[in-house]
Amino acid sequence: MHETPVHSHPENGALAWNYAVVRLCEHGIRNRTSFFFFFFVKWSTEWARTSLFQNYFHEESFLRADFKVILQTQSAPLSTVGKEFTYSFLFIGPQISSLAASVPVILQQRNVHHAVVPHGKPGRSAVSGAVATVFGATGFLGRYVVNRLGRIGSQVVVPYRCDHYDIMYLKPMGDLGQLQFMEWNPRNKESTLKALQHSNVVVNLVGREWETRNFSFEEVFVTIPKNIALLAKEAGVEKLIHVSHLNADIKSPSKYLRNKAIGEEAVREVFPEAIIIKPSELFGREDRFLNYYANMRRFGGVPLISYGKKTVKQPIYVADVARAIVNIVKDQDSIGKTYALAGPNRYLLQDMVRYIYAVAHRPLFMFPLPRPLYHYLARIFELNPFDQWTSRDKVDRFHTTDKKFPDLPGLEDLEIIPSSLEQKAIEVLRRHRKYRWLDADLDVAKPAHTCELLMSSAAHFRVYASYSSRGV
Ligand SMILES: NC(=O)c1ccc[n+]([C@@H]2O[C@H](COP(=O)([O-])OP(=O)(O)OC[C@H]3O[C@@H](n4cnc5c(N)ncnc54)[C@H](OP(=O)(O)O)[C@@H]3O)[C@@H](O)[C@H]2O)c1
Repeated sequence: MHETPVHSHPENGALAWNYAVVRLCEHGIRNRTSFFFFFFVKWSTEWARTSLFQNYFHEESFLRADFKVILQTQSAPLSTVGKEFTYSFLFIGPQISSLAASVPVILQQRNVHHAVVPHGKPGRSAVSGAVATVFGATGFLGRYVVNRLGRIGSQVVVPYRCDHYDIMYLKPMGDLGQLQFMEWNPRNKESTLKALQHSNVVVNLVGREWETRNFSFEEVFVTIPKNIALLAKEAGVEKLIHVSHLNADIKSPSKYLRNKAIGEEAVREVFPEAIIIKPSELFGREDRFLNYYANMRRFGGVPLISYGKKTVKQPIYVADVARAIVNIVKDQDSIGKTYALAGPNRYLLQDMVRYIYAVAHRPLFMFPLPRPLYHYLARIFELNPFDQWTSRDKVDRFHTTDKKFPDLPGLEDLEIIPSSLEQKAIEVLRRHRKYRWLDADLDVAKPAHTCELLMSSAAHFRVYASYSSRGV
């Protein structure tokens, strides 16, 4: 037997294979089809001593793969025919994942069922190793998060309180058996514990834009998140991702934002390693931001406090936030961090509304309205016992200037290029167009006037180039 140890650092499985073929060619074996590969993957003793998951992301971890080749060819030199060759490849650190699993996304602290050991080719049919409970998955952001998690082959637990027919649209988002739906009552601790006890990631997206007779903002944004955090801690969950708001502030005129600020502290208090995400207003197909302003035409015009000249908005595309959440799940350094997520550009509210109507090809009638009068109008909508289209709180929230947090990590730190309003608004606004404008080009609408371009197109390109060179 002839043995050639080869220490290689292949980028992926395909490279390892090519490397093996090259090494064989050095022995005069040039015809790939004329020999059989007997492939054995042998865990080295160091590898076996520690748990599979704990070693996944450690630089010192390695996997030795032995390729045994028995020559059965007549085209090779006679001296080598029938001989057995063993090639040993040493895969160091993260490269192991390319051979043994697709996307090992999470560092496990607990013993897990063998069914969640990462394996398979990358994609929805793989097992990424993440088992995530997504509270609030039935909402606007939730569907994007579940979709992204399903796409990398994670198991997703979806606690829901609605009729099960209302969650049917989530079912195709994961491979067979990867999405688990369970009824959930946020006031019942056992029910919450049951939903999260087998997960290593918990994402809290529970939220509501208005208070109901049953649930106050305090309960939705403070009590429920605190209970989830408490039970997640008890159950030994590794990552708790709590979604707050960019403008969460105890001094805000909006009760929603005040409670978001208290909720952040409450979660940190019981789960100090929690990851808090602070997104600005989200836009996307099913949003309540661009659609809200576009729908205002039905009431004759768009009222804006101070004519929208004193409010600056920096909206973010919903899919970017979902990607950020998935990248946070994968990122081992994210523990305990707070992320401020906002879009690439800042707009005066007035300019943004102008742009919305330009893209929707609708005539715009915009008028200034004093806050008390606006509140009075919003009060009428609050009488609606069902979904409130607007409320006094929403008026205050939408007229709050988006904060800047230069010290907090953002989308760029998660290697995400933020999508601008100009790129994605058409997705939301096309359905607000009249039939004759349905297919009209986007170029007809001038880009919105930005009061502050946080990322120029050159900078955008630089970031993109740096990501692509790293294969992101
Ligand atoms: N949308 C934005 O622009 C925006 C901006 C910044 C931050 N956020 C935050 O991001 C998170 C997700 O936002 P979203 O727009 O996806 O919210 P959403 O569409 O209103 O969905 C909220 C989710 O929370 C659930 N929920 C609400 N009240 C509940 C209660 N009392 N008990 C149990 N479940 C309850 C809803 O379940 P049902 O379907 O059963 O009602 C739904 O699944 C929220 O925390 C929100 O505050 C949103």
